[in-house]
Amino acid sequence: MENQFPEEKFSTQYRNIPVSFVRSILNAIGQQKMISFAGGLPNPSLFPVGELAESTRAVMAAHGGTVLQYAGSMGYYPLREWIANRYSAKYGMSITPEMVLITNGSQQAIDVISKLFINPGDGVILEKPSYLGAIQAMSAYLPDFREVDLEEDGANLAQIEELFLDEDIKLMYAVTNAQNPSGISYSAEKRKDLAMLLRKYNQFLLEDDPYNEICFDGEFPAPVKKFAPDHVAWTGSFSKMVAPGLRNGWVVLPPALVPHFDKVKQATDLHPNNLTQYVLHHYLVHNDLDEHLQRIRTKYAGMAECMVEMLKRYLPDEVHITQPTGGMFIWLTLPEGLRADELIHRTMERGVIFVPGNSFYTKGQGSNHIRLNFTNAEPDDIQKGVAIMAEEMKKLLCAV
Ligand SMILES: Cc1ncc(COP(=O)(O)O)c(C=O)c1O
Repeated sequence: MENQFPEEKFSTQYRNIPVSFVRSILNAIGQQKMISFAGGLPNPSLFPVGELAESTRAVMAAHGGTVLQYAGSMGYYPLREWIANRYSAKYGMSITPEMVLITNGSQQAIDVISKLFINPGDGVILEKPSYLGAIQAMSAYLPDFREVDLEEDGANLAQIEELFLDEDIKLMYAVTNAQNPSGISYSAEKRKDLAMLLRKYNQFLLEDDPYNEICFDGEFPAPVKKFAPDHVAWTGSFSKMVAPGLRNGWVVLPPALVPHFDKVKQATDLHPNNLTQYVLHHYLVHNDLDEHLQRIRTKYAGMAECMVEMLKRYLPDEVHITQPTGGMFIWLTLPEGLRADELIHRTMERGVIFVPGNSFYTKGQGSNHIRLNFTNAEPDDIQKGVAIMAEEMKKLLCAV
């Protein structure tokens, strides 16, 4: 293509960032109408638009001059206090507002922690599969990724312990609730056992938890953070609870890490968006968040059930389907001979997209997996899309 920027100008760090499959495929198909199970977007019908409009009006009327001014880098104190109180009460933890820093989505917390910890070549433990956005954010700091198996109840602890013995490990990254992409949540026991390993080997975990409140049946168990508070940075996000466009997330840090995280954060973006922090806080204290969350859980649980039912009805019996207990994704494991990257070329021709599993691995594995998003498709489209996927799978299986 003409007019390309000269590649050699780019940094090694930049060049190490993998391309997002979803972004590139969405760019490639442009405006074409597709049935998409590929994205990871919350359902916009659940955004509290009217309530946020009212909160914006109230905040601007009461604090216009303040919210439009530069602000403190750690975030709006009342919002930090709200987060500290909610999660201290929810899990019986002792979180103070001083330990909570507001970030531009939890994605920024991943970047800041990576910038703070990772030298080129440092060992970083990832679940296999892992969240693509974290792989991208961390890759810019040139880590040596070490992957551990993700089992039905969380990551394989024996593999983690073996790696913890290796002294060049700097960090472990894990999504302990309704993981993106696999949907897996850690059992209560595994959380405690992982905390014990972190303490024993003096290792550090970035526990990324944006789906904490999107549990379909009751609540997820307490985070690893509870059992190893000085060895875990625990992130949260309002993206799935309220709306991602606000870009409000947070991290709960060990107190000793706060000034260091804050220094990196200041260098990155000075401070979080002041207006959306005030608006969000106003929304949280003037509305019933738990009622709102219940609506999200009920809707998503119904959508997940609909997709699982269609998958079971149409897909070949040999395909393994996870039953989501929360979050936004279903993870498929394909039988021998079926490759997700081959399948997507065929389904794309017929207007259906999903994310092939290899996007979620760092060493080229995962082509026998598929991630499906269930929060954004109508039942008719789910049926149509799954039927097309099934037909193409069967054709490929016949050709094996
Ligand atoms: C596991 C995980 N972490 C972090 C994020 C980023 O979320 P946020 O909007 O809070 O930046 C996502 C978004 O989908 C996610 O799935």
